[in-house]
Amino acid sequence: MSDIDAMIAQLESIRQQAQQDFAAAADSEVLTALKVKYLGKKGELTGVLKGVGGLSVEDRPRIGQVVNTIKAELEQVIEARAAELGAQADAARIHAERIDVSLPGRVMPRGALHPVQQGLDEMTAIFDRMGFMIAEGPEIETEFHNFDALNIPPEHPARAMHDTFFLRDTENGEPMLLRTHTSPVQIRAMQRFVGDGHEPPLAVVAPGRVYRCDSDVTHSPMFHQVEVFKVDRDVSMAHLKGVLQYFLSAYFEQEVPIRLRPHYFPFTEPSAEVDIGCVFCAGKGCRICKGSGWIEVLGSGMIHPNVLKSVNIDTSIYSGFAFGLGVERLVMLKHGIPDLRLFFENDVRFLRRMGA
Ligand code: DAH
Repeated sequence: MSDIDAMIAQLESIRQQAQQDFAAAADSEVLTALKVKYLGKKGELTGVLKGVGGLSVEDRPRIGQVVNTIKAELEQVIEARAAELGAQADAARIHAERIDVSLPGRVMPRGALHPVQQGLDEMTAIFDRMGFMIAEGPEIETEFHNFDALNIPPEHPARAMHDTFFLRDTENGEPMLLRTHTSPVQIRAMQRFVGDGHEPPLAVVAPGRVYRCDSDVTHSPMFHQVEVFKVDRDVSMAHLKGVLQYFLSAYFEQEVPIRLRPHYFPFTEPSAEVDIGCVFCAGKGCRICKGSGWIEVLGSGMIHPNVLKSVNIDTSIYSGFAFGLGVERLVMLKHGIPDLRLFFENDVRFLRRMGA
């Protein structure tokens, strides 16, 4: 066999091998590597050309032609294979990313406000509509705001009855505590109001958390109160009763009878406990109202002059009414919730059922 025939045979075998390899390339990276291997500057085809020095002058162009033809052919094969691999990759990706638009959507569970928060919001909104200003105070309070300014001096038995959580911290040497009621917001709101140079009227609703060192079936160490008060000229028990009547009927969404019973609170004089006609038996007497037809719902009274004096409000001109209610209790009565502990156990079935 002449040199040229041997080279042509060699080129032919490279061509065939390359064709096979290209067809078998599993992805575009392998294909690129093969392209370098066969057609690159130091590739196999070029390698054959190194031998052309030994050929006759007439044979050299022939070999060049054969190499070019094979090169052109192989380039086409590579291009075709590359297109094929690209299409396969696209198809695989489309398959992997496919979404079944006929599947039902994922339902996002909808959250709801806790029933106590709902109650707070409803109650606050009723007073807001009546023109009361919404105020809040700190849950960590001073003894002064929680007791002294509310006419509860240190030796007063009411202090002991409040089951106070005292804190180790002090403010300017004054003992700090977790507020046992929202009544200190009366003091803070009036102090701010007077400090800003205002004169009554002042009407405030103050919702919030309170704390008592007390825990049993009907008591939780943390619970909620709403405090309401109004200071103006000539405020009387009649205003108190009118506001209570309006509020309680609005909250229970029905005309509820109310009655005021004389009582004692240090920060009011006179003081009254307020009952509503039993919402379960319409006053006939049942287990809930212990047969009396009435249910106690809150404490109230005319703000004690000592309280107004503690914030420099002139008691010869101004008087005020105040009341404070337990939120959990009213929410339980409105919704027939039998057990206080349901509010704090966080059983989602209960919360879902109460969710608005
Ligand atoms: N602060 C009282 C308590 O937590 C409730 C209360 C009673 C508030 C009478 C008042 C009021 O404003 O006038 O037991």
